[in-house]
Amino acid sequence: MSTLTLLATALLAAAADNSAAHDIPDPLPVGQCINVGNHLEPEQESSWGGEILDAEDFASIRGAGFDTIRLPVRWANKTGPGPDYVVDAVWMDRVQEVVDMAFAADLNVLLDSHNFEELHANPAANTAKLAAIWRQIGARFADYPDERLWFEIENEPHDALTNRNLLDTLTPALLAIRETNSSRPVVIGGEWWSGVDSLATLELPDDPNVHPTFHYYEPFDFTHQGASWVDPSPTIGRTYGTEADRQRLANDALKVVAYMARTGRTPFIGETGAYDAHISLEQRVAYHSAVTQQFAPLGIDSCMWAYTNTFPFRDQETGEWHPELLEAIQWSSGAE
Ligand code: GLC
Repeated sequence: MSTLTLLATALLAAAADNSAAHDIPDPLPVGQCINVGNHLEPEQESSWGGEILDAEDFASIRGAGFDTIRLPVRWANKTGPGPDYVVDAVWMDRVQEVVDMAFAADLNVLLDSHNFEELHANPAANTAKLAAIWRQIGARFADYPDERLWFEIENEPHDALTNRNLLDTLTPALLAIRETNSSRPVVIGGEWWSGVDSLATLELPDDPNVHPTFHYYEPFDFTHQGASWVDPSPTIGRTYGTEADRQRLANDALKVVAYMARTGRTPFIGETGAYDAHISLEQRVAYHSAVTQQFAPLGIDSCMWAYTNTFPFRDQETGEWHPELLEAIQWSSGAE
């Protein structure tokens, strides 16, 4: 056994002890998960090039073997003025309709707040708005089963929103959710776009139904090569799969296991993927396969980024799934 494996085994045992000693709830049962990304974040639904979501999308996602969707939604530009920040009723109805379509297809839904850029630029000035938004979402979905619908307070904290002010910023929103959803699972990711290093200093509110997450796009110069929304955009041509890449992945997994040992909690990967514009399908398959084989055996589930319109698992033109990608994210313990 390698030193890394020995260390990971020892840390996992510590994580199990810690979890039992502190009566920590089971990890969120995310299972196989995919982000329905780039649909409800644009100004108008799917105006970044996607199609309007309908029931067929969710039946197809279920049919492809997914248990859960993560549903990124931009709310912050759909409200009236403070102090109430009333969410546009048509928008709220449409989000509910999408959640209902996913439920009808027997999918769990992780509903988030995405791209609230002002919050990241100035957390203190936008804390009340975030809470007001979540108070309304909470009220709207209060009767939905805890087992199937989960909330994620804000995607990828970054810029001025760091692990130092994260709880001050997110706790009012959590309390607003708790006014109507006493035990709904709520997800929180840490600073620096919830990268794996955020786990080292991530603290969660004292609430048994809050679950940690992180995002995994390492090595970023591979997964985001040529991405126009990244400045500077990583150079095109970086391939994946060297020994150094393997070592890095193993080291990153060790960081997650260290978090599990420290807290007794098992996080899940809320986003992972590689940009299709400049990366071949074969290389995307290699990446997803490596990430799955590294994290799944540790009990860490992943949400793929993403469905059809960004880093696609399903071709929007043909409607066909990429079978190689679906296969790459399979992992079986063999313990049937
Ligand atoms: C984040 C961003 C999203 C982007 C993805 C991959 O979720 O919010 O817009 O496409 O990461 O970079």
